[in-house]
Amino acid sequence: MGIQFKEVSFAYKGVKDERYDAIIDINLKIEQGEFVAIVGKTGSGKTTLAQHMNALLQPTKGTVNVFDYVLPGHKRQKIGPIRKRVGLVFQFPEYQLFEYTVLKDIMFGPKNFGLKEEEAKEKALLAAKLVGLPDEILESSPFRISGGQMRRVAIAGILAMEPDVLVLDEPTRGLDPKGAQEVMTIFNNMHKEYNKTIVLVSHDMDLISSYAERVIVLDEGRIIFDGPKKELFTHKDFPKFSLAKPKTYELMEYLAQKIKIPFKAIFNQEEILEYLKEIRNE
Ligand SMILES: Nc1ncnc2c1ncn2[C@@H]1O[C@H](COP(=O)(O)OP(=O)(O)OP(=O)(O)O)[C@@H](O)[C@H]1O
Ligand SMILES: [Mg+2]
Repeated sequence: MGIQFKEVSFAYKGVKDERYDAIIDINLKIEQGEFVAIVGKTGSGKTTLAQHMNALLQPTKGTVNVFDYVLPGHKRQKIGPIRKRVGLVFQFPEYQLFEYTVLKDIMFGPKNFGLKEEEAKEKALLAAKLVGLPDEILESSPFRISGGQMRRVAIAGILAMEPDVLVLDEPTRGLDPKGAQEVMTIFNNMHKEYNKTIVLVSHDMDLISSYAERVIVLDEGRIIFDGPKKELFTHKDFPKFSLAKPKTYELMEYLAQKIKIPFKAIFNQEEILEYLKEIRNE
């Protein structure tokens, strides 16, 4: 079993209006091995929802099951095991770097979960390789490397804990297009090769549509759509969702209209090319 939300609402403490919940009556189930995207306008509750998945926040109403754990748990319930299984990559994760060297920073998580120095180092080196960090920067200060590399260090720190689920809150924000592509390739490999569950929060519909199969749309704290991406763009209320369509999808609509080919929902360039070749040969 993966992650399940049952009737979950959450209100931030100190928010004066007591009726104000950041997420409201959330029901959802994410199975191990899925690649799910969470989208929605700014302030719609995406980060709040994502942070419930590794117990960084706990419901004020309802329950969240994370594997065998139920939240909110009893007072002395340990959160550590949940954090180990569900790694959360924050919006701008590089703000959390703090160790003297890159390697030490990546080792922090595994050590914190009780691994000995040598074992933690082994995991850290493997994670550094997975994210493509060159060996020579492992002994540098994490504050003397480029922003894109800092992001990789932060991601490696999560991967080193070998979580089953990766929750990614806008992991490509602020990166250049090449950097964004590289970071997404890392996550996609984790998904494809290691069967990791991926929960991706993003505003970028091109990114989402090229990787995720299932999309959850939030609006003012509520889920207004949860289903396969192909159904999202043809949903009768789609215009009200204030979401962009992926470029490839728009291109297919354009071609269907202009050169009268049958429309097909396609989410990457190679498939468009294949499709065009296919219909030319018919
Ligand atoms: N620490 C906080 N204290 C009080 N209210 C908060 C806090 N964090 C978020 N909120 C409020 O909760 C609601 C949901 O915020 P959240 O950050 O989950 O949205 P989001 O969809 O992630 O937005 P964005 O796309 O801008 O990242 C917003 O109305 C926000 O103002
Ligand atoms: Mg957010």
